Amino acid sequence: MTGVAGLIAHKQRGGRHGPEEIAFLVEGYLRGTVPDYQMAAWLMAVYFRGLDAEETWALTRVLVQSGEVLNLDAVPGIKVDKHSTGGVGDKTTLVVAPLAAALGLKMVKLAGRSLGHTGGTLDKLEAIPGLRVELSREEIIAQAARTGVVVAGHTAELVPADRKLYALRDVTSTTDCLPLIAASIMSKKIAGGAQVIVLDVKVGEGGFLPGLEEARRLAQTMVELGRRAERPTVAVLSRMDQPLGRAVGNALEVREAAAVLQGGGPPDVRELSLALTAQLLLLAGQVRTAEEGRALAERALAEGRAWEKFRELVAAQGGRVEALEPGGLAEARYQVPVRALRGGYVRRVAARPIGETARALGAGRQVLGQPVDPAVGITVEAKVGDRVGEGEVLARLHAQDRGLAESLARRLAGAWEIGEEPPKEEPLVYETRP
Ligand code: URA
Repeated sequence: MTGVAGLIAHKQRGGRHGPEEIAFLVEGYLRGTVPDYQMAAWLMAVYFRGLDAEETWALTRVLVQSGEVLNLDAVPGIKVDKHSTGGVGDKTTLVVAPLAAALGLKMVKLAGRSLGHTGGTLDKLEAIPGLRVELSREEIIAQAARTGVVVAGHTAELVPADRKLYALRDVTSTTDCLPLIAASIMSKKIAGGAQVIVLDVKVGEGGFLPGLEEARRLAQTMVELGRRAERPTVAVLSRMDQPLGRAVGNALEVREAAAVLQGGGPPDVRELSLALTAQLLLLAGQVRTAEEGRALAERALAEGRAWEKFRELVAAQGGRVEALEPGGLAEARYQVPVRALRGGYVRRVAARPIGETARALGAGRQVLGQPVDPAVGITVEAKVGDRVGEGEVLARLHAQDRGLAESLARRLAGAWEIGEEPPKEEPLVYETRP
């Protein structure tokens, strides 16, 4: 068997690809000579058989070379980037990007859309009326030089192959795959032109790779890809076994990020945002210790400088800043409660079914290119360690279709594990890997 079918069969049997074979597949997919169904079959073969370090590096390079590399020389200062491997309720980019910029770093963040059960920063930002995330290369550079912060989609010129593959992975259940995640993320970071990169690698079933060992391997793989590309990279391993914060869904998450930027919001979102910003400052050589970086970040939040920078970001990308005031963002027609099946301590809140339910409500996509509904989602009222009574509200589904929400709410109650004993405390950040 030759051609694409031969390459699929080779990977299916556990064979290795040379860099030219990976280039043939990915470039062909981008050009349209390799159709969706063959690429989907190859992705599935990779899903089961994996890619080794050389193949992962080859895939990363082909993805980068499928488009341009953003040249940020015209932007003065230290250009930094941050990326999460994807979780439920993870809105830290909305906090970290303006916070880092308020501290003098230049944050040019090329973000993604929802993937599988996880949300995407671009979909969240688009919940702000008027805000554009599809910026041209010239617009990105001009905005970065002017304001120090941009959060945009990778333009048609940047990593177009990842954009196409990412959308295909989303609807073929090939998202939870270490080398595909590593190459997808690092190709965007390399093409994005940042000098230093901080990665937030999620640990727990709300991420794509639940186990600590897998998360470590993913972190190591991405840090190594950064080293090969001469971009100093650090990975923070953070907990994702319950949603981060309380809001899951696009407009709901923007509201929660705004609360953190104004000095309030849920402690876990605030903590993780501070930890990631501290690592950015450290890697950029602006502070000598992470503690020093954290203190600077806390001050920028307390003094309202990060919130002001966020408003500047929104305005620069055409968003209506007034929409950030209470009642300014889209709200769903119905709120349907999820109630506790018994009383006791919340020992676990399974993030993945919550992410999947938000997706089913319309916060994410089920098929290629489907629009998302900014208003829908879930607000989590009971988190790990809370004590609840039988029948108490654990969460609310924000929905446009009451019938759908009621049936989803009944099923979702099982995501809360409730017991007699309080759970043991787990750290939010497990470790940081240089
Ligand atoms: N984020 C990405 O950009 N790509 C992935 O594959 C997973 C998370």
